[in-house]
Amino acid sequence: MTGSVLRRAPGPLLPLLLLALVCVCGAAELPRPSYANQPRPSYADIAAGNHKKPGYVAPAPAPAHAPAPSPVNEAAVAQAVTQFSLNVAKDVIGGADGNVVVSPLGVAHLLSLLQQAAAPFSDTEAQLEKGLLLDKESSSRGIPQLLRNAITKPRSKSVLENGNSLFVNAEWRLKPDFLGLAHSTYDMDVASLDFKQADAAVAAINKWASDATHGLIPALVSKGSVNPRTNLVLASAMYFRGVWQRQFDVGKTVQRLFSVSPAQNATVFMMQQAGDYRFGELSDLGAQWLEIPFDGEHFSMLVLLPNQRHGADEVLQRLQAHHIQAMVSPSPPRRAILLMPRFQISTDAGLTHALKNLGIHSLFGRDAKLRGISDNVLSVSDVVHKAQMKVDEQGAVASAASAVLVNTLSLINFSDDMRFNVDHPFLAIIVDRTTKLPLFISRVAYPDRSF
Ligand SMILES: *[C@@H]1O[C@H](CO)[C@@H](O)[C@H](O)[C@H]1NC(C)=O
Ligand SMILES: *[C@@H]1O[C@H](CO)[C@@H](O)[C@H](O)[C@H]1NC(C)=O
Repeated sequence: MTGSVLRRAPGPLLPLLLLALVCVCGAAELPRPSYANQPRPSYADIAAGNHKKPGYVAPAPAPAHAPAPSPVNEAAVAQAVTQFSLNVAKDVIGGADGNVVVSPLGVAHLLSLLQQAAAPFSDTEAQLEKGLLLDKESSSRGIPQLLRNAITKPRSKSVLENGNSLFVNAEWRLKPDFLGLAHSTYDMDVASLDFKQADAAVAAINKWASDATHGLIPALVSKGSVNPRTNLVLASAMYFRGVWQRQFDVGKTVQRLFSVSPAQNATVFMMQQAGDYRFGELSDLGAQWLEIPFDGEHFSMLVLLPNQRHGADEVLQRLQAHHIQAMVSPSPPRRAILLMPRFQISTDAGLTHALKNLGIHSLFGRDAKLRGISDNVLSVSDVVHKAQMKVDEQGAVASAASAVLVNTLSLINFSDDMRFNVDHPFLAIIVDRTTKLPLFISRVAYPDRSF
């Protein structure tokens, strides 16, 4: 299944992607909302009957009383989003076996939008502030901007794309200010769907997800997750394609043993390359790390190899935002021989559990108090997340960009031909070096040798 999906990816490139989705459902006993005096231009479409079929509707303008701009501390926002991403990854990866990949950045984006809709002084507001580690204002001004910065890069062979969409029940009325905020601040397309036609609604959402991920995630939602009470679906998609700055020579890839567990060795395809890398040791993590840059220098993969052969989970649990920042901070590259298995990962994770573990409960309760969206009683029924990652020879070595210097790391005194031999379970994290954000966080327990 995984293989067939991945094989559809454009051959030599490295495809990675993620999707996140939040369903907001009205409670069954609610009075039917009134559709009179709809302020949104989209209701012209509805009047014309266009809402019977999936289609994009024009959003309302941004609220006139937008907050006056004051400086947002971008580094502090990046630190908070990084920590949120790691917290989600720890919960999802720690609670699952085998290979897992998550990309919580899009989830942070969606939750940040819901945070804006939370009623003042509600539990939902307080819990989202605690979970996202940002107050309402820093969140709305910081997170969408951070995502924009991450996807806006000079042309190179490596690209990060992001798409966001709001699917609204055609017969349901939500507050125009919310639509305006979603569109203008959170870069969301707005589409009107008839959720009573569940098959067609699911097909429309999945078509959007598939397009946004270049076909790699063809089925974000299933028919079971959409019901007649579904009034709103928020979705975010990411697509990353990176070419190593210097690609591995396929001819040098060899079959080698990988120590899956104390009781199991597996034969894997091990890629090899000698070159100049940035690497070091984080002694408080109990891991060595090495950075493999992608073309264009803005993105790289951090490989964290636990000192304890089967200690990848312990390393992940100890990993904090400052470690990521330390690893992407400038340090001179040095000679190393890298041996790393090809791998591919496909993850389908519900994130409700992870978010509750972060203290975000009332969003999922009987009344999430999302008054900014509607005065109806709303509740989030599910948070769905799918992600994939595939790594092969089409990559290479790199330069360090300038960044903030946070030094909790000590560089290892390796000899010139240090061997970084990734022959036991490890963590692989795709980072945006500019914002220092982790984009995809994975644990590779058993490299796939089916490709
Ligand atoms: C796995 O391979 C290593 C190195 O060759 C060896 O020491 C170990 O005993 C093997 N483990 C198993 C379970 O076969
Ligand atoms: C680091 O390596 C150099 C040269 O190999 C050696 O002279 C030096 O003693 C080493 N330092 C430590 C702290 O091991």
